[in-house]
Amino acid sequence: MKEEIVKIQQEALARIAEVTDRRGVEDARVAILGKKGVLTMAQTGMKDVPKEDKPVVGQLLNDARKAITEALEAKLAEVQALADKAAVAGVDLTLPARSLPMGGLHPLTIIRDEAIGILRRMGFALAEGPEIEDEFHCFDALNTPEDHPARNEKDTFYFDSGKLLRTHTSSVQIRTMEKQCPPVRIIAPGSAYRRDEIDATHLSVFNQLEGLYVAKDVSVGDLKGTLEYLLRALFGADTEVRFRPHFFPFTEPSFEIDVKLKVSGQEPRWVEIAGCGMVDPAVFAAVDKERGGEPCYEGMTGFAFGLGLDRLAMIRWGIRDIRALIENDVRFLSQFQ
Ligand code: PHE
Repeated sequence: MKEEIVKIQQEALARIAEVTDRRGVEDARVAILGKKGVLTMAQTGMKDVPKEDKPVVGQLLNDARKAITEALEAKLAEVQALADKAAVAGVDLTLPARSLPMGGLHPLTIIRDEAIGILRRMGFALAEGPEIEDEFHCFDALNTPEDHPARNEKDTFYFDSGKLLRTHTSSVQIRTMEKQCPPVRIIAPGSAYRRDEIDATHLSVFNQLEGLYVAKDVSVGDLKGTLEYLLRALFGADTEVRFRPHFFPFTEPSFEIDVKLKVSGQEPRWVEIAGCGMVDPAVFAAVDKERGGEPCYEGMTGFAFGLGLDRLAMIRWGIRDIRALIENDVRFLSQFQ
């Protein structure tokens, strides 16, 4: 038995010494130490060893297993090192790295995320609604009568089903109020669609950021303060902002907001960037009616606004033609990295 163990050990170490790859190491391990490996098989002979010899034979077996295991580990490290070396053979590590083209965020994404960040710090939560809307959420609930020009076939993309591509994100006001009672403080960025004649300041798909705040005793002062704060945070503390009286069916009073655009080499000019106003009680009534049960918007006050995100991007970077935002010309986009 003793000689047998010594012989197995010698042969095993000799075999391992000749191995040249990982596979060989694994094969040797299985053949020697595996369940049916030679050493494992020899171990089963222990039961026939006379009692007085058992300690010595047992020790020999343990030593053999240890020596073989160590030899396998050392061999594995050796063949791995060789394989690593072969893998980089012929590679010149002093060559300069190949440059990877860097992607960047689209200017609209940058300005949208900034606006969201500012408004969220003021306590507005994100809300959303579908781009394929129905007339109720896009118009009726927003106090926009059947004969209003915005509902015209010439202005709105209708589907045969009677659904339409939302002409503004104001539909999210209704969708939000249907789901919850006041207080409501949400913003909803998203696309809107109109059959506009495409030119330097109009596209048939554009991006808005809707805002709605409903509570008790909300005033025009809250509306002005919120939007002025947002615009100054976006464009700088000395940004000039102007509120002009306007008309929207779903707010009363209503305003349009202009920001003074200053591009070097150009006369400063006012650019319209948002519509806003105090939520018309007719909108609250429509929502209460749709919700059914106890009215929870009756007697409430609130303001709403819809910012043109494309216009914000144009002001921030002095972009003269809105079409640049959808053409995906890399010479334009790479300026925002
Ligand atoms: N929905 C209006 C538009 O697209 C903007 C607006 C939003 C006006 C909210 C008032 C209140 O022109």
